Amino acid sequence: MLLEGKKILVGITGSIAAYKSILLVRLLVKSGADVKVVITPAALDFVSPLVLSVLSKNKVSIQWQEQHEWNNHVELGRWADVFVLAPVTCNTLSKMAHGGCDNLLLAVYLSATCPVVVVPAMDEEMWHHLTTKQNLSKLISYGNKVLEVNDGELASGIIGMGRMAEPEEIITYLEENCFREKNLTGKKVLVTAGPTYEAIDPVRFIGNRSSGKMGFAIAEAFYLKGAEVVLVTGPTHEITNYKGIQIIHVETAAEMFDACIKFQDAAIVVMSAAVADFTALKIEDQKIKKTGEALQINLVKTQDILKYFGSSKHPQQFIAGFALETENELEHAIKKLNEKNLDCIILNSLNDDGAGFEKNTNKISIINKDGIMSFDLKSKKEVATDIVNYIINQI
Ligand code: CTP
Repeated sequence: MLLEGKKILVGITGSIAAYKSILLVRLLVKSGADVKVVITPAALDFVSPLVLSVLSKNKVSIQWQEQHEWNNHVELGRWADVFVLAPVTCNTLSKMAHGGCDNLLLAVYLSATCPVVVVPAMDEEMWHHLTTKQNLSKLISYGNKVLEVNDGELASGIIGMGRMAEPEEIITYLEENCFREKNLTGKKVLVTAGPTYEAIDPVRFIGNRSSGKMGFAIAEAFYLKGAEVVLVTGPTHEITNYKGIQIIHVETAAEMFDACIKFQDAAIVVMSAAVADFTALKIEDQKIKKTGEALQINLVKTQDILKYFGSSKHPQQFIAGFALETENELEHAIKKLNEKNLDCIILNSLNDDGAGFEKNTNKISIINKDGIMSFDLKSKKEVATDIVNYIINQI
């Protein structure tokens, strides 16, 4: 978990969106972060310091002094790995842009030595106002990061721009922009995911049950280690919230091949897609009618993308494939490892409970020329981290 042990200071100002910050604090603590909260006096109208202190497991700072004790703003600003201000009102935004310092939160901001993330919330006209734009540009020019508002229902009843980003989006933003690791910085990684669909007529296709979950989790795990990630995926309901991952959507095995070969220079290639091995020799122009008692469709082999990459592998490249087997698992996996010239093959067996398509868990073994390493049944996210850590160790 990327936020584990990170020191995160949450600043809350007087906006109705402050109710979402309660959940933000909860999610940060659940992610393993050490959380402290500073709020403006105006925020007291919207959130209870008691709730925030129970959830953050720390005292909430509001005033310069509390019970005759000085609240050390410098200490708070230096303690944090990141200071995330959510929500930031127009008023606080303006004061931040111009060096205003009439409350503790602003003093903490001016003293902060860590990265600062500004998450605004306001009504639509205020968001579009020129002074808001200028204040935001100023804050960005000072080195602050800004997570822009969303479109949606506002407190005024208007539908438009101005909603504060959701707590989950703020967490993703922090992971992506403040805490990505650097193990694979500068390395390009190509990942394939999902099924392919091979059309037989204008309305039907041959497909498979792959959900894309494993490939998406692998792409995200690589990305969070600092890699530049290209994800080529077949039809899937999966999405990634990380904006920096380049996603290319394809439908057929041929389209997947064409998309992948543009990234043959990738330092690491992991192909987890369940690519169709056969495609229709001819796609009928019209819908096939149910005349006759049986139907024969002629299929021809697709290009094996992984094998193609293995046969043209460049010296520093690391290539991993997947093998989903139902019998003689190890034997089949080793055969694919050798025939496709891979650095390793990740084996999952449909005979293992909790492994395979459409599930949120998987149980894998990683096989290379030196032997086999078996892992327990885990969530696909954890399996992805195991795979990425294994590859980092190998290269
Ligand atoms: N693969 C590929 N292109 C194909 C078929 C498979 O890139 N046209 C990749 C898959 O992404 C996976 C690996 O090859 O990483 C193994 O795929 P699989 O279909 O299990 O193995 P095959 O070699 O096709 O053998 P078989 O279907 O006979 O088990």
